[in-house]
Amino acid sequence: MTKTSTRGKNAFRGKKLTAYLAHIISPKTASTLTNIPRGAIVVDEEGKIVEVGEWFKLKRNYDGMVQVIDYGQKIITPGFVDLHLHLPQITQTARTGKTLLGWLDSYVFPAEARFADKRHARKIANWFFDELARNGTTLANVFTTVHKDATDIAFEIAAAKGHRVIMGKVLMDKNSPKALTEDTETSLKDAEELCKRWHGYDNNRLIYAFIPRFAITASKELLTGCGKLWKKYKGTYLHTHLAETKDECTFVKKQYPSARSYVDVYASHNLTGKNSIFAHSIYLDDKDLRALKESQSSLAHCASANFFLKSGFFPFSRIKKAGIKFGLGSDVAGGPQMSLFSVMKDTAYMQMDLWISPRELFYLGTLGGAKAANLDKVVGSLEEGKEADFVVIDPTRRTGVPNDMLGHNVDEILSTLIYLGDDRMIVSTFVRGRKIFDADKTRSTDKTLRSTKSAGKLKLA
Ligand code: GUN
Ligand code: ZN
Repeated sequence: MTKTSTRGKNAFRGKKLTAYLAHIISPKTASTLTNIPRGAIVVDEEGKIVEVGEWFKLKRNYDGMVQVIDYGQKIITPGFVDLHLHLPQITQTARTGKTLLGWLDSYVFPAEARFADKRHARKIANWFFDELARNGTTLANVFTTVHKDATDIAFEIAAAKGHRVIMGKVLMDKNSPKALTEDTETSLKDAEELCKRWHGYDNNRLIYAFIPRFAITASKELLTGCGKLWKKYKGTYLHTHLAETKDECTFVKKQYPSARSYVDVYASHNLTGKNSIFAHSIYLDDKDLRALKESQSSLAHCASANFFLKSGFFPFSRIKKAGIKFGLGSDVAGGPQMSLFSVMKDTAYMQMDLWISPRELFYLGTLGGAKAANLDKVVGSLEEGKEADFVVIDPTRRTGVPNDMLGHNVDEILSTLIYLGDDRMIVSTFVRGRKIFDADKTRSTDKTLRSTKSAGKLKLA
């Protein structure tokens, strides 16, 4: 792991370096990981990881040349990867009692329509990104709404606050409420303009995604147009929902009677391929799986949302066997919790006939997600040369966690994080070496939020 022998002190001279000390846990594969109880990650001023290893070995190399931040009895892991969630829906968490299509009509579409108001859009986007950081999410694949201005504002806020996102406006031109139904040409034009403005911003910290919401709310022209834009702009993503509920699949079958399957609807409009991410992907047959694998498409498994909306069971073993890349998505607000700990836990709970190891769950919420997004060369694990996206975790902030937790073996530590973890365990969140969340500092922000809300000045939904 450590490569201290190949480095002399001179290699770092003149560079501003920071060493973060803690118990380091980072995935390598679904079953292997790096575990360094008294470890350090050394980060340069550009936010790149220079070295990871045991501090007592590394420190000789950096004598006097590094700022040391010692987190003591805490854990550092890669930041979490949320492969699918909705910015505007943070106002609609925990709205229960309806399955997908009814839930969209009753709660989601009215909430999204409010994003025509730029002040509302700014307020909620600020809240959303603060919550992402508070939950330790350092790469998020985000749906906004159909609104160009609201999406522009979301990018502006993500840029300023230091987030790493794949994001884009939603495109909808049929079967949706009037307030959200776009003219096809305008929808595509707005998406292209946003892409031109934001895609690749700050050395690819912000990446654009083309987002036809799902087959139901898109005309053939809109799907075809999305496919063309996605191909035209290198490095962009295609992000949509696929086969989440039986009712949705029936609707799509009626819309496309000659298509072999739902996957075929997307494939025939050139929407499958590398850098396409399909959320949910529950009701798929073996031919669909082969098509997704062969096209190098990726999936976002949204366990909590599948639970919450009673949509069904992700075919975890079949997907794995088919060799399709997948990661985890909170699907806020289909899933009520933004914490990837919670999504990992629900991923385990939903597979009734399978024990998914804590290592594998941790991998899926970090490096596996980065792999599914084809960004694993950049983020997803703590390795030399990658960007320093990481979280500092204090497991003892939760009840039920013994004070000597860090003395346990790494599988027990991970299991504790997954089954007991939530935002309360996150001490700090870093993206590319920049601290974007500090639990001690944000307590005062929480107080402000509470007091303005109770004074009736801040209405969140
Ligand atoms: N399918 C189409 N739109 C949505 C959405 O907003 N949430 C979920 N979970 N599924 C969808
Ligand atoms: Zn969704």
